[in-house]
Amino acid sequence: MMTYDYPKVEKILREAGQIHLLDGFEMLSEEEKMRLATEIMEIDFSIFERAAHLEKKTYEHIAPIPIFSTETVEKEREELETIGLSAIHAGKVGAVLLCGGQGTRLGSPHAKGMYNIGITKEISIFSLHFRYLCEVAKRAEKWFPIYIMTSIYNGAEIEAFLKEKNFFGYEASAIHFFVQKMAPATDLEGKIYKESPSSLVLSPDGNGGWFSALAETGYLDKQDAPEWLNVISIDNVLQKTVDPLFVGVTLRENAACGAKVVRKVTPDEKIGLICENEGHPAVIEYYELDKLKKDNAVSTDGMEYGVILNYLFRISEMAKTLSAKLPVHKARKKIPYYDGEYHKPETENGYKYEMLATDLVERMDSCLAFEILREKEFAPVKNCTGVDSVESAREMLLRAGFDL
Ligand code: UTP
Repeated sequence: MMTYDYPKVEKILREAGQIHLLDGFEMLSEEEKMRLATEIMEIDFSIFERAAHLEKKTYEHIAPIPIFSTETVEKEREELETIGLSAIHAGKVGAVLLCGGQGTRLGSPHAKGMYNIGITKEISIFSLHFRYLCEVAKRAEKWFPIYIMTSIYNGAEIEAFLKEKNFFGYEASAIHFFVQKMAPATDLEGKIYKESPSSLVLSPDGNGGWFSALAETGYLDKQDAPEWLNVISIDNVLQKTVDPLFVGVTLRENAACGAKVVRKVTPDEKIGLICENEGHPAVIEYYELDKLKKDNAVSTDGMEYGVILNYLFRISEMAKTLSAKLPVHKARKKIPYYDGEYHKPETENGYKYEMLATDLVERMDSCLAFEILREKEFAPVKNCTGVDSVESAREMLLRAGFDL
C-alpha cells in the first residue's frame, strides 16, 4: 500500500508558507489523506519564485528581427521544399501537437481538437490537422513521428477519439502521446487554493512545459528520434505542421529555431510580438506589451509581426534549456475554491501559473522568422463568436476553399 510521510509534507508546506493546506487534515479518511499528500508532494514550489522574478524583466534593448518574407520564399520555393522534404524523409523532423489546454474561452465540454468546425458535416479540428500531416508524409514518403501532448483532464478522451478515427489515415505506430504536468492555482496573495477537502486546484502548467515533459518520456533518446521538432497549437484550423518549405528554410539558414510569423492586423492584436532583445530572439506577450506601452517602457517602431505558435526547434539546442527552468507567467482568473465551504467567485480572485512556449524561443541563439499569409495559415479558434472564433475560422476555411 502507498503511504505518505506526514512530517515531510508538513516541513515542505511550512517552508513554502502554505501550511494552511493541512487545515482539517486529521478529519480526512486515509485514502483522502494520501491523495492530498501526493498532490502536495508533486508541486514544483519554484514556480512562485520564478513568477516573481519575471515581473522584474525589462525590454530596454528591443529591436526588429529580420523577416524571411513570402516574396523571398517564393523565389526559392522549389529548392527549399526539396531540402525540407529530404530532411523529413531522412527522419530528421517530428511534430509536437499541443493539446493540453483547457479551452476555457471556447467552453466546449470536449478537447478543442475534437470540436466540430464543419457546417453541413462533421469535420473535427483534429481531422484538418491530420489531413495536412498525411499530405506531407505522402510527399516525403515518411511517417514522421507525431508527439501529442495532453493533460490529465483530456488525455483519455483525445486518445480514444483519435484511435476510433484511425488517426485519420496516419500510421498509428508513428504516434506517441504524453501528458503535461500540472500547477496549483493561488489566491491573490499566493496561497494555494483547495478544490475540495482532499484536493488542490490544479491546472495544466502551460504550453511551455512540453519540452521537459517530452524529454522525460525518453522518446527523444531513442536511436531513431528526430533532430528537429515542429511544435504547434491545435486551435489554428489552417495550421501547416511540418511544412517542407518552413523546414527547408530553417535548416538551410542553419538557425537554432524557426518561427512562423504573421503581419499583425493592428498593433494591439492579441498575439505575441516577435523581436530581438539584447541580440537574442524574443517574443513579448500581448498583455505584457500593453503594460510596457502604458509605462512608456518600450518603443516597438518597425516591429509588425506576431507569432502563431508554430515553431521548429533543433533538439540539441533545446536540451540546453533544461538546465535552467523556464520563467513562469501569472494569469489572473476567477477560480472556484474550497476553504471549509465551496465558493464560485464572480470576479477574479487568484492566479494560475503557466510556462509559455514563447520563452523557449528566447533561449535560442537565433530564430528564423518565416512570414506566412494569414488567409492561408492562421485561423485560431479561441472563442465561439467574434474575433478568433468558430465563426471567423469557418469563414476563413470557406475562403480557403474547404468544403464544410
Ligand atoms: P491557449 O493558451 O490559447 O489556451 O492555447 P487554451 O487552453 O486553448 O484556451 P483558453 O486560454 O483556456 O481559452 C494555445 C495552445 O496551447 C495548448 C492549447 O491546447 C492550444 O493548442 N496548451 C495550452 C497546452 O497544450 N497546455 C496548456 O497548459 C495550455
